[in-house]
Amino acid sequence: MRKIPSVEATPSATATTTATTATTATTATKAVIFDAYGTLFDVYSVGLLADQLFPGFGERLSLLWRDKQIDYTRITSMSGQYKPFWELTRAGLRFAALKLGLSLTEQAEEQLMNQYRHLSAFPENREVLVALQQRGVPCGILSNGDPDMLGVAVRSAGFSGLLKPVISVHPIRKYKTDPAAYALGTQAFGLPAKEILFVSSNCWDAVGATWFGYTTLWVNRAGAPLEQLACAPARTGSSLRDVLEFFPASPTASSSASFPS
Ligand code: LAC
Repeated sequence: MRKIPSVEATPSATATTTATTATTATTATKAVIFDAYGTLFDVYSVGLLADQLFPGFGERLSLLWRDKQIDYTRITSMSGQYKPFWELTRAGLRFAALKLGLSLTEQAEEQLMNQYRHLSAFPENREVLVALQQRGVPCGILSNGDPDMLGVAVRSAGFSGLLKPVISVHPIRKYKTDPAAYALGTQAFGLPAKEILFVSSNCWDAVGATWFGYTTLWVNRAGAPLEQLACAPARTGSSLRDVLEFFPASPTASSSASFPS
């Protein structure tokens, strides 16, 4: 059984003190579930194209687009409605452009949506996923993204053989942070939540997963403040590399770990 080392993950240099909270976790984790958007794939990488299309507005557009996309998952979920994440992503883009007074042509919208389909992965991800595979750690995704968009994102990042299963909330028509969405991860891995490390760069997601019962790592790349909800992830780190501290390399690392289908 692997034990989580007691060393705390290095917090982001710019993180506030509340964002560096870490508890001494003692539960052995046996698998990893990654959030996708923001954690594996850089949702703000669309800012470059956005800035070419709307000079001076790229960053603001990408920030507002992301906020509105997530806002729409909450509005629909709380109203008992459901629309696939791809549709909400498009709706978020349209709103963001309107809000900023930008004239979003059909062609610009398609260009930006196509870019969103092929988001850049964060540079350290591949080496971390490969190291986890070498250490025999089952790794998957649990995302609000719908299956099509997740499939393209995983393939175009070259992660196909490294992440299994890729779980979308789409079949249950409920978004994270609904507990039913987090339950898809425990069901797929057949493990108690505490024995799964749930990794997200979205603090709200790390909080939802912590409430659900997962052992959690918040990858706070941006040095954001901790959500003020009296719930801290088990660890806070600054890059995906911090996942590896939960699974130290060892000659006895299991090579027979079962990977859920
Ligand atoms: C995800 C988004 C919401 O679930 O980060 O992948």
